[in-house]
Amino acid sequence: MSENNYLLIDAAFKRPVTRTPVWVMRQAGRYLSEYREVREKAGSFLKLCMNPELAAEVSIQPLDIIGVDAVIMFSDILTPLIGIGTELDFVPGPVISNPVRTGSDINNLKPFNPEESTAYVGAILKLIRKQIEGRAPVIGFAGAPFTLACYLVEGGNTKLFSKTIQLFFDQPELAHQLMDKLSVLTIDYLNYQIENGAQMVQLFDTWAGILSPEDFKQYILPYITRIFDSLDKKNEVPRVYYVNGSSHLLPQMATCGADVIGLDWRTDIGRVKQQIGDKVALQGNIDPNILFCSKEIIQQRTKQILDKFGSDSGHIFNLGHGIDKSVNPEHLKAMVETVKTYSVR
Ligand code: CP3
Repeated sequence: MSENNYLLIDAAFKRPVTRTPVWVMRQAGRYLSEYREVREKAGSFLKLCMNPELAAEVSIQPLDIIGVDAVIMFSDILTPLIGIGTELDFVPGPVISNPVRTGSDINNLKPFNPEESTAYVGAILKLIRKQIEGRAPVIGFAGAPFTLACYLVEGGNTKLFSKTIQLFFDQPELAHQLMDKLSVLTIDYLNYQIENGAQMVQLFDTWAGILSPEDFKQYILPYITRIFDSLDKKNEVPRVYYVNGSSHLLPQMATCGADVIGLDWRTDIGRVKQQIGDKVALQGNIDPNILFCSKEIIQQRTKQILDKFGSDSGHIFNLGHGIDKSVNPEHLKAMVETVKTYSVR
């Protein structure tokens, strides 16, 4: 496969493809025993993220073991926040011991310099590119400003976003200051990844779906539009925007400048294609829990999604959210094999 003839990149730009490409959110992770071994060697999740050799090794595992069509660099959306003064740990869920809740907390955030605080990410990308020798494209990523803000304000993982909503709606000017700072960080971070070899970039806005369409329009859309507009190599490096629980936001998401919209599993991809498929390519969207079912059901549900999208280009197969740590890798292989054989044009 030549470097300028990747299925993933072609599908993202809606150029003709011989079949549907497939990769999986969180494909480098604990469901693989090979990952658990390397993580053990590294000592902790954060040490693994910051060790370029080992992080490149786990990034490449799903290409060799599962047969996916892309390598996503191994890291986390929260690690760049360490560079602006965040005290971050994973237990394994993220914990931030100095949350950002006031105007002075926001003012005290340090400017982000990717070469200084995330040099390991540049090194990981370069190592992956060198080691896989063009067998697949390499995906870079960042957390979107609102999702990063949720973790920064709440102080870690939560299902309740009370402090974030309180900051955003009680003090909108502070919220916009925080969103602005995090947008600048995201632009610099993604351009640093593109410079170091990322061939597609995905912006994870996992929690944006908690907002209404009106609030999304006011607090999120202008920043996402600005980020995508500020990225380098627009004609070469496709830009993906993923939101979990996004069915009420899709018409707005389609206008943000992304080439690809990542869908969660609650939407019907055939209907979404009719709704926004003329503007963007689509990524998704099988329910991650289907991987706990029998191989027969996995195959059947995979084919259903491929049938719903149809044979046009502009579909990247993926889960609707990250893979769970207790999935049997053989089940994931069954899904990937089905995409690769059933979608052949
Ligand atoms: O996709 C990949 O394989 C690349 C690696 C990747 C990780 N996190 C590794 C990881 C990516 C792209 C992410 C993104 C991420 N991280 C998101 C956005 C996507 C989503 O899932 O919604 C979010 C919200 C986070 C924050 C985060 N990091 C959480 C909530 C957790 C705990 C998860 C858990 O299951 O306990 C993490 C830790 C994390 N990030 C792990 C991995 C492999 C598990 C830690 C470990 O190995 O000990």
